[in-house]
Amino acid sequence: MPTKLEKFEQYKQFPNCFTYLYNDYALENKHFDLYGQWNSNLFKTNYPIVIELGCGRGEYTVGLAQKYPQKNFIGIDYKSNRMWMGAKQSLESKLKNTAFLRTKVEFLGKVFAPNEISEIWITFPDPQVQKSRIKKRLTHPRFLNLYKKFLRPQGIIHLKTDNTIFFEYTLEVLRELGLPILYHTFDLHQQDIPKEYDEIRQIQTYYEQLFSAQGHTIKYCQFQLN
Ligand SMILES: C[S@@+](CC[C@H](N)C(=O)[O-])C[C@H]1O[C@@H](n2cnc3c(N)ncnc32)[C@H](O)[C@@H]1O
Repeated sequence: MPTKLEKFEQYKQFPNCFTYLYNDYALENKHFDLYGQWNSNLFKTNYPIVIELGCGRGEYTVGLAQKYPQKNFIGIDYKSNRMWMGAKQSLESKLKNTAFLRTKVEFLGKVFAPNEISEIWITFPDPQVQKSRIKKRLTHPRFLNLYKKFLRPQGIIHLKTDNTIFFEYTLEVLRELGLPILYHTFDLHQQDIPKEYDEIRQIQTYYEQLFSAQGHTIKYCQFQLN
């Protein structure tokens, strides 16, 4: 297994890996090079684009990409040494429908053009439980407004978390904003869930496996922004 530094270096060389360091671009107020062109210039297909925010090692992005060859997937995290794992797996499996992007979620308005994204997965985000950090929660209204900039009008957002405070906070925000909650459960793996949502539990993220093994229940919610 390469060291952390070796992973940083290899990530930069992998053809399916990208980096958007906002500070470099902000000086010139530039969008990311693939803004509005992820399909035409990278994937070379017209399939819907699905992104995973805070993808960590990227195993969920890779799992979804293998299961849905007619969608394109981009895993996003600010830690490239973690994404190295998923990126390498994708290359070894010759997956043409995955890419990884090192950036902060906060910068995505400069990375994706309006309507470029069809689905967003938020998988086990840092719950930011202290009240002083509420604005950093990835389902805070300021992030929902950001996602609106690039998510298609009927686009879907999926959230998986083990954290009850974060999950209840999210449901409250969605209700307050009057946004449609298509489905939610406090126990994805135990509850009898409708057949159409069954596939949601077939692929598990690294943290999902970890928390489930520790006896935590996994919460899941699917919603839209309009
Ligand atoms: C708890 S881990 C979950 C990883 C993976 N989704 C899973 O379920 O196994 C949260 C991940 O989100 C990333 N992250 C947190 N805040 C972020 C932000 N603002 N922008 C990009 N990545 C972020 C962290 O680097 C970390 O890899």
